[in-house]
Amino acid sequence: MTDLERLERMPRVPMAALPTRFEEAPRMARAIAGDKAPSLYLKRDDLTGLATGGNKTRKLEYLVADAIKGGYDILVTTGAAQSNHARQTAAAGAKYGLKVILVLEGEDPGPPQGNHLLDVILGADVRFAGVEEDEAVWGKMVALRDELASQGRKAYLIPVGGSVPIGALGYATAVLELADQALAAGVKKADIYIASGSAGTQAGVELGLRLAHRQGFDGHCYGVSVSHRAHEIAAEVARIANGTAELIGSDIRLEPGEIDILDQYVGPGYAVATPGGIEAIELLARSEGVLLDPVYTGKAMAGLVDQVRRGRYGRGEPVIFWHTGGVPALFVYAEEFTKKR
Ligand SMILES: Cc1ncc(COP(=O)(O)O)c(C=O)c1O
Repeated sequence: MTDLERLERMPRVPMAALPTRFEEAPRMARAIAGDKAPSLYLKRDDLTGLATGGNKTRKLEYLVADAIKGGYDILVTTGAAQSNHARQTAAAGAKYGLKVILVLEGEDPGPPQGNHLLDVILGADVRFAGVEEDEAVWGKMVALRDELASQGRKAYLIPVGGSVPIGALGYATAVLELADQALAAGVKKADIYIASGSAGTQAGVELGLRLAHRQGFDGHCYGVSVSHRAHEIAAEVARIANGTAELIGSDIRLEPGEIDILDQYVGPGYAVATPGGIEAIELLARSEGVLLDPVYTGKAMAGLVDQVRRGRYGRGEPVIFWHTGGVPALFVYAEEFTKKR
């Protein structure tokens, strides 16, 4: 059996509306670069469909399958109050009849808004850890699992972002979907820009690209960091991707040095809006009618816009932006769009 065949046989439950659209964004390309515009394509994973969509739904197709296979009856995960991953996990649990407990980072921010509000509507048990650091929050999740076990419940813990080898399977398969669509549009070679946070999405993309090379699609991924330094994300991407390769019995192995991360678009920090991100959101909204968000996709698009403006791509050269969702968080940033600039 080939790597691709083994990938296709991994346990998966259907949740996302697939394939997501692959579409040209010519007015956005002209808005950035006028007559010298590259051919800009959007891969619309904001339209995966589950409770306002996003990238985590693809990961959850594999994580929920693993939980069901293992006889778990509760999903426990974490993230920021505005976590898109937590919201999609709440929806996935609802769809498959699993209780969902969200142990969100920090203190309760007050009246729910954006993703936090959707968590509540989706019926998740939302708790705030009172601590921020990943390890401290994980400790609380483990203690919760033990407490639930003593009540005869079996809790499946999903680390932040679903960024574990099983979750990254979702983006290895997503690349094969993208490769088919790109080849059908006559795009054989292209750079791909995607927001990178907890690194699991890019890990899947990197592994998928190495598999798709064998199908004749030559894509190169630029992860645009929304939080960490480039070397930290690159190490995580390689670690998770290698775990995913092992899961499917593939010999492919990645080194951190092969992973390209652009970390100059983070701004002051995670979830802090940047002028470049706000500009990118407004540009895409006003040229194509497509919404981005200030935490992830706005910063990733700001990276693409900047690279195009620096002349990195020639006229008509294909460039792909992988839209990973995040729109519910927009409502929490209303002031950024309405204040006088
Ligand atoms: C909208 C959006 N884009 C991109 C990402 C980044 O994915 P990852 O954490 O797998 O790097 C996330 C993750 O939270 C997200 O919510």
